[in-house]
This record gives sequence, structure tokens and C-alpha cells, in this order.
Amino acid sequence: MNTLFLDAAFSKQTERPPVWMMRQAGRFMPEYWEIKNKYSFLEMCKTPEIAADVTMLPVDLLGIDAAILFSDILVTGEAMGGDLSFTQGVGPRFANPVRTLKDVDALEVDVLDRLQYVADAIKVIQQRLNGSIPLIGFAGAPFTVMSYLVEGGSSKDFKLTKLLMHNEPEVAHKLLAKIAKVTADYLNLQIAAGVNAVQIFDSWALALSWNDYQEFSHRYIQEIIANLNRKDIPVISFCKGSSVFAPIMATAKPDVISVDWNADLLNIKNSLPAGIAVQGNLDPHILYANKPVIKREILRLFERMRGEKGFICNLGHGIMPDIPFDNVKYAIEVIKEFKY
Ligand code: CP3
Repeated sequence: MNTLFLDAAFSKQTERPPVWMMRQAGRFMPEYWEIKNKYSFLEMCKTPEIAADVTMLPVDLLGIDAAILFSDILVTGEAMGGDLSFTQGVGPRFANPVRTLKDVDALEVDVLDRLQYVADAIKVIQQRLNGSIPLIGFAGAPFTVMSYLVEGGSSKDFKLTKLLMHNEPEVAHKLLAKIAKVTADYLNLQIAAGVNAVQIFDSWALALSWNDYQEFSHRYIQEIIANLNRKDIPVISFCKGSSVFAPIMATAKPDVISVDWNADLLNIKNSLPAGIAVQGNLDPHILYANKPVIKREILRLFERMRGEKGFICNLGHGIMPDIPFDNVKYAIEVIKEFKY
């Protein structure tokens, strides 16, 4: 097995930074569309052979150092009772938004049987990977998943979610606690099925104030991490907003904090307790740019992180669907040529 990713996640010395990219199994690849044109997104997630095919695309076409399960963070909300659909150009939608105590009470929490397809997909993927590179499992963080359940889909300002948090905090907390329970169970299901690492995505944490982040997001992530059957499975905590929230995130004791592109990565790393690795933090927009710019930005980050134990190269957020495939491939080549 190529152990670069796991070594870096556990803050061990590696000969070069390992690399994978958030949303690497997605729409920027023409081969993704060949599959997507035949099935809906949820069909792809729920059919283990297809989920495995998509997971393997960046492994085979890009040569990254870790694979990530093809799924979505919103499958936990669906399993709890959310009526989830994905529509081209609209994005995710819950047709039955959760906005009242009654709605929250109606959500179910013993739902692992409804997520069994993910365990099945993990087993197929591990057969295909055959020990070559580690597989990352993932789940959405309670605040981010709550925002989709409450808003009924994507949102720019999270107005309804924040209204619930501020006017009816006990309802928001009840909802968050339910999502946190399902999320911990779900990640433990993935660990039992054979993933080699897990990442928690709190994509929209940046929308929260310092106090609200601690009350409505962080404490539930802390609870989830405390409930994981971690053994030798590194836990990666990602949020947009980690440049600000990293000191709080560290208190949940993840192995890795995944950092957005606003902060200097070495400064963040040096500010964390020893033994917490960092992942990041290229601005995904550099992948639209000319190749010399792509190379310059990668090398700038790598020179800054030269010789650091505990650095995984990634983007600060996911690859956009219209980024040229060729540029991503070039970036991976530049990254893999580098030696500490
Ligand atoms: O990283 C990977 O390649 C693994 C697969 C993965 C997907 N979604 C596939 C996907 C992962 C890790 C996610 C996580 C996810 N899903 C997040 C957190 C990560 C992040 O980028 O912040 C969020 C916020 C979601 C919710 C979600 N799902 C959104 C906002 C969208 C896209 C809406 C749009 O149309 O732009 C999705 C759909 C989705 N998830 C797609 C893929 C490949 C596209 C589906 C399609 O082909 O139509």
C-alpha cells in the first residue's frame, strides 16, 4: 500500500506531500458524465458497482494518493426521513424541510439499515483498490447537514437556519443532536466496512459567528469524534472557515485539520497542538489558470511546508465542475514530482 497519505495524517515524515482533492470524483471528468448521463446522482450513490466505478475514476486517471468514497453528505438527512433529490442546475433539495419541533420529532435516528448501500459500496471499492491506496469515508457535519434540512436546499445566507438557532435554540439543538447521533453511527458503519480514514465536512461553518460556531457546530463534531471507533483510522476535520476556527476545531482532537485557502498553512500548523496534521490549502481557482501559474502556486505552498511532518496537499474546498481536467492532471504531476 502507498502509505504516504496515512503517514502524513499521523504526522509521520514522508518523502513528499501526499495529494488528493476534494470532489475529485466528480463532474470535471468527462468519464463522470459518461456514467452520469445514464443514471441519476442518487442511483449512482446507491448502486455499489457504480459508486465504485466513480470512486475509481480519479485513482485510474489522476494517480492520487487516496481515494474518496463516491457519495454525498446529504444521505444522512435522507435516511432520517428527508425527501432528497438532486436536480441539474438546482442542486440538492429536501422537499419536506425541517422547521418546527414537530418536524424534528418526526426524524428517525436508528437508520443504519437505510445506509447499508454505503457499506456495500465500500467493500466493492476496497476489492478494486486491492490495497494500492487508502480509501477515505466521509459524512457531513451536523450544522451543514442541518442547513440543507432546514432551508430545503442550498442557501446563500442560511437565514432560516440561523432564525431557528437564534429564536428556538432548543429545537435547533434537538435537531443537531439527532444528526450527530446518526453521523457517528454512519461513520462507524463506514469504518466497520473498511474505510482507512474519515473526513467530516462542515462546508458552511464560515457563515457562523465565533460563538455560534462553538454552540451549534463544534460541540457536535466533538461529540461525533469522541464516539468514533478510531483504532488506526485518522479523522480529518474540514470546514470552510478553518482559517478562523482551527484553534476550536483542534479541541475536538481530529488527526488532521483541513484548511481553506485564506490562511498561511504553516502559521496554522504551528498554532496547533503537536500531532495535528494539516491538509490544504490551495485555492481551487488556481486550477483554472495557466500551467505556469498552477506550478508556481503549488511550489510556493510546498516551499513553505518543506520538511514538515503532517502535511497533506489538497484544495481549500472542492474542485469546481468546469475546471479543465488537463489542468488537474498537470497539478497532480507537479505535486508528485516534488521531493522534500
Ligand atoms: O469528494 C468527492 O469526490 C466524493 C464525493 C462527494 C460528493 N459530494 C459528490 C457529489 C463529496 C465528498 C460530497 C460532499 C458534499 N456534498 C458537500 C461537502 C463538500 C463541499 O464541497 O463542500 C456538500 C456541501 C454537498 C451537498 C451537495 N451535493 C451540493 C452542494 C451538490 C452540488 C450542487 C450543484 O449542482 O452544484 C451536491 C451534488 C454532488 N455531490 C455532485 C457530486 C459529484 C454532483 C451531482 C451531479 O452530477 O449532478
